[in-house]
Amino acid sequence: MKTLILAGGKGTRLWPLSRELMPKQFIKIFDDSSLFQKTVERALKFSTPREIYVVTNKDYKFRILDDLREMGIEVPEENILLEPVGKNTLPAIYWGIKTIHESFGKSKVAVLPSDHLIDTNENYIKAFERAEKLANNYFITFGIKPTKPHTGYGYIKPGEKLEGGYRVDEFKEKPDLGTAKKYVEDGYYWNSGMFLFDSELFIEEVKMLAPEVYEAFKSAKTIEEAYELVPEISVDYGIMEKTNKAAVVPLNTLWNDLGSFDAIYEIFEKDENGNALRTKGKKAEYLGVDSENNLIMTERLTATVGVKDMIIIDTGDALLVAHRGEAQKVKQIYKMLTERN
Ligand code: GDD
Ligand code: MG
Repeated sequence: MKTLILAGGKGTRLWPLSRELMPKQFIKIFDDSSLFQKTVERALKFSTPREIYVVTNKDYKFRILDDLREMGIEVPEENILLEPVGKNTLPAIYWGIKTIHESFGKSKVAVLPSDHLIDTNENYIKAFERAEKLANNYFITFGIKPTKPHTGYGYIKPGEKLEGGYRVDEFKEKPDLGTAKKYVEDGYYWNSGMFLFDSELFIEEVKMLAPEVYEAFKSAKTIEEAYELVPEISVDYGIMEKTNKAAVVPLNTLWNDLGSFDAIYEIFEKDENGNALRTKGKKAEYLGVDSENNLIMTERLTATVGVKDMIIIDTGDALLVAHRGEAQKVKQIYKMLTERN
């Protein structure tokens, strides 16, 4: 099976860990491998290095090459597709799948975002095996059991039972909070953001449901031109909400879209006061008095007194202080910074 890794996002909600030239997929948040490297490891479960493709921004080319070199994985350089500008996930996936289709003919392609933390246990492997079979006739999404009414995800209503999954009765991207609450009660799944597509079916469906995307790549002579023409649209709004050929394969494993510092707090281990701590460098240390349930990531000696439910991120050259539960808004800081420059 082929794997297409999406690695062109900016990760603006993780500023200041995530920077313009160092978005979150390349940060080593948990250990000494980056989220992109962890995604490559997941891809290697089903694909050889030659079968792995990456779509990313041209500015991140060397990050990708460095990460692959560090792992000793030989993905051919021509498999790294460099976008002149980001137009969200549908153009990226379409370009990747079209390229694979032109090189290998009709193929099954797993599409993996590079900003997730996932446990690739037995359940993960089985879900992909089921999905690969179903992908002969359906566009496959992987469904995660929701734990709360998160408004940053896609929601999937399972319908008719199929071998290994369900037909999708409804796919709704990023609903408002009230709708999300109802969906959670009604047994919808979260869209994990991973997909499995048959290249031929996918290209046909894009031609039908997102003809501007299909035409942009068909009529343009260069990739620069295609990206000037193509609209900015995600695969979720452009295809998954519209198609009547979607199926969902439930995925029961640890899955976290490290979308914000709130999500990172949930994943990290906590000490007896509920503080999640990460220190980096020899001088870094944390001391707390009457401080509870904070996320603290720091590169220097840091102390808090009477501080609760806060996010404190100190990268040495920038400091973020935020309330837990409001971490989604960090992207507004990133926006203010880029507009100022
Ligand atoms: N190459 C490329 N170009 N990659 C991109 C671009 C782009 O323009 N934009 C985003 N990506 C990459 C990101 O790096 C990430 O790995 C992946 O595509 C998904 O994009 P996000 O921007 O992180 O999407 P999201 O988290 O808001 O929503 C998606 O994922 C959720 C689960 O994490 C949707 O599929 C939701 O339905 C889903 O629930
Ligand atoms: Mg995401």
